[in-house]
Amino acid sequence: MIVCVCKAVNERAIHRAVAAGHDTLEDLQFELGLGTCCGKCVPMAREVLSEARLETFGAQQHAVPLRFVPRPTRVALA
Ligand code: FES
Repeated sequence: MIVCVCKAVNERAIHRAVAAGHDTLEDLQFELGLGTCCGKCVPMAREVLSEARLETFGAQQHAVPLRFVPRPTRVALA
């Protein structure tokens, strides 16, 4: 299932990223770009991230609080 329409990120990509050690929303935003455009996918991304953390790490580490951190925008040089 597609989680982030803007960046075409699906659940499988999130699970793979978490298994590769990118286990925070900020990491996923950096690695996959999800949630960095309109941000509407962030709640769903949190749910999928929680599932992936539970699947990868077990019950102890999946409930770490997550927060949205927007990427800095590029500044046009005048
Ligand atoms: S749907 Fe993910 S940033 Fe727009």
